[in-house]
Amino acid sequence: MTCIFILWGNGMKAQVNAPSIIPDRVILNLTEDPSTSVAVTWRTDTTVTNAVVEIQPAAPMIDAKASKTFSGKTSTQKYSWGEEPEIVSHHHSCIITGLKPGKKYAYRVGYPDHWSEWFQFQTASDIASPFSFIYFGDPQNDLKSRWSRVIRAAYRYQPDCHFMLYAGDLINRAGTDREWHEWFLAGSFIYGMVPQMMTPGNHDYNDLTLDPHWNKQFTLPANGPKGLEGTCYVVDYNNLRLISIDSAVDSELENENGWQMQTQKAWLDSVLRTNTRKWVIVTTHLPFYSPKANRDNKVLRNNFQPILEKYKVDLVLTGHDHSYGRGKTTDNPQSGHEVMYVVSVSGPKMYEAGDKDWMERSGSFKQLFQAITIDNNELIYKSFTADGELFDEFKLSKNE
Ligand SMILES: [Fe+2]
Repeated sequence: MTCIFILWGNGMKAQVNAPSIIPDRVILNLTEDPSTSVAVTWRTDTTVTNAVVEIQPAAPMIDAKASKTFSGKTSTQKYSWGEEPEIVSHHHSCIITGLKPGKKYAYRVGYPDHWSEWFQFQTASDIASPFSFIYFGDPQNDLKSRWSRVIRAAYRYQPDCHFMLYAGDLINRAGTDREWHEWFLAGSFIYGMVPQMMTPGNHDYNDLTLDPHWNKQFTLPANGPKGLEGTCYVVDYNNLRLISIDSAVDSELENENGWQMQTQKAWLDSVLRTNTRKWVIVTTHLPFYSPKANRDNKVLRNNFQPILEKYKVDLVLTGHDHSYGRGKTTDNPQSGHEVMYVVSVSGPKMYEAGDKDWMERSGSFKQLFQAITIDNNELIYKSFTADGELFDEFKLSKNE
């Protein structure tokens, strides 16, 4: 009896994250123009060689004759990690274009007899109108057991959020398919309905190599510096310019002369110089200012803060410190502009926040999510604990 139980147990373990002929891990990502396009990515086993999407305007009923069909790209990836069973997947990726701004659409992926369910999402409006999004600090650990309730609480709080943003360290050990299985289980159908945007953290790299899952299972913009496709990029969402800087590409981006620092600085200056949107938010994994007592990222701050201040960036959203800190501050009082910086955490790994002058609000040992609304001249920010208590809030306002 014992022997049968062990065999069954191992068999279940081996299969838990294996792909099948049925699409799974269906996820939307923001494109560089989310008012007219959206990116969708999904996974199957290797018997499925086509990437097909059917999409139609959302209506009370799905109309079998109303769909447009899009074809995407299919690629193969083999994942192995320690003693875990090797996983060979086909990843399918499609950018759906020609959509109308501010409209709801229904779509499914796969092919006849092996379709996903129909998902529904909304494109960004092309006229200034209120919208909200969710921001998460590091999920990273115990994704199924203890992070899942955070993303579900966030979705319950703001089911009409327009996208979700992650400040890196989505899993703990880059390359482990089993951890990605838990991340996808935690968010489940939410990823197919709400476009996701992520910047990588140090745990999304393994010895300075980006987790191969990243650009296979996400279809993120490739409009940043060459070599940083899907990790350093810009999205214009309504009246917001949203920028991802990759602060994990060179460990903690401490080499001031490295191409990773130099190209991202030049690129950031150019996308801010040409910006036409009212609001600017930058996300990156490393905090500009740390809550944790013995941590500081002075090199990052010295190199990027003058650029953020020159172009009056509004808000910086980060992770990495496994605690909460938030404050408006500067190292350069003569610049005449102070950026609001936030460090947050959504997963259960925790460090103690120190007592640092830059923080207007700090906290330790709290799993959190943030809901951010932009309504013309106002940005309304609220941070909630996993059990739904308001933990922090502020408002940024513009005059024009
Ligand atoms: Fe980190």
